[in-house]
Amino acid sequence: MSIQRDDFPADFVWGTATAAYQIEGAVDEDGRAPSIWDTFSHTPGKTRDGDTGDTACDHYHRYREDVALMRELGVNAYRFSIAWPRVLPQGRGVVNGAGLDFYDRLVDALLGAGITPWATLYHWDLPQALEDAGGWPRRDTAYALAEYAAVVGRRLGDRLKRWITLNEPWCSAYLGYGNGVHAPGRQDFALSLQAAHHLLLGHGLATEALRAAVPGAQVGVTLNLTPTHPATPDPRDLEAARRYDGFFNRWYLDPLFGFGYPLDMWELYGPMVPHVEPEDLRRIAVPLDFLGINYYSRSVVRHAEQGPLLVEHVRPEGEYTYMNWEVYPDGIREIVARVAREYRPRSIYITENGACYPDGVEDDGEIHDSKRLEYYRSHLSKCAQAIREGAPLKGYFAWSLLDNFEWAEGYDKRFGLFYVNFATQERRLKQSGRWLKGFLEGAAEAG
Ligand code: FCB
Repeated sequence: MSIQRDDFPADFVWGTATAAYQIEGAVDEDGRAPSIWDTFSHTPGKTRDGDTGDTACDHYHRYREDVALMRELGVNAYRFSIAWPRVLPQGRGVVNGAGLDFYDRLVDALLGAGITPWATLYHWDLPQALEDAGGWPRRDTAYALAEYAAVVGRRLGDRLKRWITLNEPWCSAYLGYGNGVHAPGRQDFALSLQAAHHLLLGHGLATEALRAAVPGAQVGVTLNLTPTHPATPDPRDLEAARRYDGFFNRWYLDPLFGFGYPLDMWELYGPMVPHVEPEDLRRIAVPLDFLGINYYSRSVVRHAEQGPLLVEHVRPEGEYTYMNWEVYPDGIREIVARVAREYRPRSIYITENGACYPDGVEDDGEIHDSKRLEYYRSHLSKCAQAIREGAPLKGYFAWSLLDNFEWAEGYDKRFGLFYVNFATQERRLKQSGRWLKGFLEGAAEAG
């Protein structure tokens, strides 16, 4: 199947995405204090091979080179995240000017290269001081996020207009406080629901703070969404799929779009439901300028007798990436179409989509990542279909610009369009990156 840039509107946003802790390194420079990911990755047994983000892609020092790579690729936008512990090392209170300076320089470099900056406020690197005070299960953390939003908005908002409050609150809440696979590694399902509520509240408060600080701000939030399919037509599996959808997708979508928490899930969770104060739901449902969707794969589930959700995953026949995620291109069309139909956001952006494969530099000096190339091609073609079918999809950010620190999976899992040699920090365009570059140039496809 062939796909070209002209299959998308002329004003479509084309970008790549990254996150601070995954690429920056320089963890103790210029006044940055530890985040929960520093603590977690330095705790034995938490990440693969004990990998940490101490150096990562050294982007803090190499950002100019990396902006040049984006230019080479031909993207017109870049989604990065701001490290809260650089800006407010203790989470709130004293502002670290040197930390803000870095993002000031980055934004200027991007604008100088003709690339529109899109900033995520919170991509998982909670200042450790805030975790020590109780973390996301504590209500005060939502207010701290809003304070931080105002600080960065005031400093960067004259040039930076596109803002994403949170990246994937499901991951922050459930992986961080529910199953503990991510920082801070706590394991308590009820606590993770309280964390989710405060993340959502923080989103609402931060949106208001950004709008107050930044004239003309466009503010949204990024959710990781997964179409959820029942393993069989058995009614019990249909119910299981509905529950998983409630847990993963609706628990976030419904309150953000003003429907409150889904009643079926509220009943299922029973005594574990979060404490919600009057006005919280109204604050969470602050109108969004856009919704960001991160899509990687679908979920196929069936009824199980155990766990808070009574659900288990099944692994359908098919192709899988090195993350063990099924390659399921139609899922991106399905989730975009469904969100457009049921929630009616003004605009949707795919803020992440991409694939992990065990790349290596071959004898000819190239990285022949043909599977990743095919992943991009097939998913972009489904995006084009979603637009033809009427969804307000306005942009696409590939995850990721560079191979980087893939959280608990460390450096073993590569997602970049550019290969990174972590010993030398050399970057090299992969075959998939070359394809994307050609696509963005509007070149006719070979073969
Ligand atoms: C998403 C994260 C991103 C990256 C990709 C592979 O869940 O937002 O940081 O790790 O997965």
